[in-house]
Amino acid sequence: MSRRMLIAGNWKMNGQLSDLGYFSNLPEQVSTPDAEIIVCPPFPLLPASIEAAKTSFIVIGAQDCHGASSGAHTGDVSARLLAVLGVQYVIVGHSERRADHGETDAMIRSKAEAAIEAGLIPIICVGETLEQRQAGQAVEVVAAQLAGSVPKTGEYVVAYEPVWAIGTGLVAELEDIAQMHDEIRSRLTRGETTRILYGGSVKPDNCHALMLLDDVDGALVGGASLKAQSFAEIIKNTLG
Ligand code: 13P
Repeated sequence: MSRRMLIAGNWKMNGQLSDLGYFSNLPEQVSTPDAEIIVCPPFPLLPASIEAAKTSFIVIGAQDCHGASSGAHTGDVSARLLAVLGVQYVIVGHSERRADHGETDAMIRSKAEAAIEAGLIPIICVGETLEQRQAGQAVEVVAAQLAGSVPKTGEYVVAYEPVWAIGTGLVAELEDIAQMHDEIRSRLTRGETTRILYGGSVKPDNCHALMLLDDVDGALVGGASLKAQSFAEIIKNTLG
C-alpha cells in the first residue's frame, strides 16, 4: 500500500507578516515535489499565507483548533473557520500544547473529530518524555495517547514526536523510531493507509536516513522549517 509522503513545517510562535516571501522563495528552490508539503504558520498569518502560497505546491495548515464548532471559548479558533479560510490540515495535541495548556487525550480527540467534521485533516501528535523512555514506558505511553486521542473514523495523520527530541538537536535512534512507528501502525484501525510522521530535530542532514525507514511517511519539522532554504533542503534530501 503506497502512502503519499508528507513533509510539514510547524512555525510554532514564529514568523511575521514580513516573512511571507517564504512562500515564493521555497518553490523557487525545489521543483514541484512528489510529496505533500505543508506549512503551519501562527493563526494571524494564515490568510496572508494562503494567498501567498495559492499558486504553489505549498498547502497551509494551522497549529491547533477547538473541539467545538463555535461558542464561548475566548481565544480559541474553530476548525470550521480554518476550513473556510482555506486551511487544509491542523496539528492537534502537540506536546507543547499538552504541556503548556494541559491538553488531555480526550480534548485532543475532540479537536481531531472537529477537524475531520470541518473537512480538515488533523495531524495528531504523540510522544513520550525522556523520563518515560528511560523508564522503558515509551510504547505504553504512546499507545495510551493513541487510544485516547485518535478518532474512530475519518482521515488523519499521526506524528510521533519524542518530547526530548524537540528543539534539542537530539534525534531518536533509527531503530527506536522504526520500532515506535511499527507499534503505532499496528494500533491504528486503518494502519496501512495512515501516514505516520516523525518529528524532533529533523534537519537537512538527518532527514534522508529517517525517511528511508519503512513506516516513516514524512516529517514534522520545527526550527528547520523557519527558513525557506533549510526547509527546501529537507524536502530535497528527503525525496532525493
Ligand atoms: P524541532 O524540529 O524544532 O525539533 O521541532 C519539532 C516539532 O515540535 C515540530 O512540531
